[in-house]
Amino acid sequence: MVSKRAAIATSLSIAVISLVYWLFATPRVADVVIPATAESIERGRYLVVAGGCVSCHEGTEHPRSLSGGLALESEFGTFYVSNITPDIATGIGGWDGRDFLLALKHGRSPGGGFYYPAFPYLSYAGLTQRDALDIASYLRSLPAVEFTPSSHRVPWWLGRWTLAGWNKLAAVTLPRLPEEADGKIARGAYLVRTLGHCGECHTPRSILGVPDRRREFAGAPLGDGEVEAIDAEALAGWTEEDLGYLLFLGVKPDGEFVGGEMEKVVEHNTSKLTLEDRQAIAAFLKRR
Ligand code: HEC
Ligand code: HEC
Repeated sequence: MVSKRAAIATSLSIAVISLVYWLFATPRVADVVIPATAESIERGRYLVVAGGCVSCHEGTEHPRSLSGGLALESEFGTFYVSNITPDIATGIGGWDGRDFLLALKHGRSPGGGFYYPAFPYLSYAGLTQRDALDIASYLRSLPAVEFTPSSHRVPWWLGRWTLAGWNKLAAVTLPRLPEEADGKIARGAYLVRTLGHCGECHTPRSILGVPDRRREFAGAPLGDGEVEAIDAEALAGWTEEDLGYLLFLGVKPDGEFVGGEMEKVVEHNTSKLTLEDRQAIAAFLKRR
C-alpha cells in the first residue's frame, strides 16, 4: 500500500517537474556572434525601419534615439517601452547574439524571464536568424543613451511568470499559416506578418488576447472604434497601386489621409521602404 502511494507520489512529482520545466525552460538558441560589418549595420538599419521599431522605441526624453519610455495603454495595464540603445546599465549594451535571438524570436530576456506581448515578439518570431542578428548589429552601432523607463503598471495577478503558460497556450492554439510559394508574395508576407506586425492591429484577438490567425486581417476593435479589415475581401475595391500610395504617402483612394496609429506606421515604416518592398506588401495583401 505504502509503496503504491509512494509510486503515485513519485509519478505526480515527475509530472509536475516536467510541466514546470516545459513551461519555464529557456528555448535552445545557438551561441552566435553579432556581426559588425558595414553591410550588417546597413541591413539592420533597414530592418529596424521595416520592423516599425521606431514607432514604439523612439525616446520620450531623448528623441532621435531608441531610448524608449513611451507608455502603451492596454486592457491589461500600462507598459513602458524599453531602452534599446547600447547603454550597458539601462539598455542592451551588454547583450550578445543569443540574447537578441531569445528576445526577438522567443520573447525571453537574457536572464530567462518573459517579456509582455506589448512587445510584438509573436510577430517577430518569424524573423530569420540573419535578420535578427543584423538588427542587433545596427542597434549596437547607435550611440548609447542612459535612460530607465518607468516600471510597467499591471494588476498583481499578471506577473511575468504567468506568461509561461500563456506563451505555450498561444503557440498551441494558433494555426501555422501556409508558406507562400511566389517570391514577391513571400517577401510581402514576411514584411506584413513578421516585420511590419500589421496583424497586431488589423487582426481580431482570440480569447488569449493574441491575434487570431484564423481571421487574419479581418479588422479589430480599438478603443471606441474599429481598425479596418485589410484582407483580400475588404481590399477588393483597391488596386495594388492604391495600396502603394497608401503605404508611401498615407493617402487613401478617396483622397483622405490615414489617421490614428496608421499615421505612425506610414511615417516610420512603410514610406521608408523601397518601392519594390511596398509593391510586395500590396501583392501579398491582394493575393488570391
Ligand atoms: C508595439 C510596440 C513595440 C514595437 C513595434 C517594438 N517593441 Fe520592442 N519592446 C516593446 C515593449 C513594451 C518592451 C518591453 C517588454 C517587457 O518589458 O516585457 C519592448 C522590449 C524590447 C526589447 C527588450 C529590451 C530589454 O532591455 O529587455 C528589445 C531588445 C526590443 N524591444 C527590440 C525591438 C526591436 C528590434 C523592434 C523592431 C523590430 C521592436 N522592439 C519593436 C514594445 C515594442
Ligand atoms: C499600431 C496599429 C497598426 C499597425 C501596426 C498597422 N496598422 Fe494599418 N491601420 C491602423 C489604423 C488605426 C487604421 C485606420 C486609420 C484611419 O482611420 O485613418 C489603419 C488603416 C490601414 C489601411 C487603410 C484601410 C482602409 O480601408 O481605409 C491599410 C491598407 C492598412 N492600414 C495597412 C496596414 C499594413 C500593410 C500594415 C503593416 C505594414 C499596417 N496597416 C499596420 C492601425 C495599424
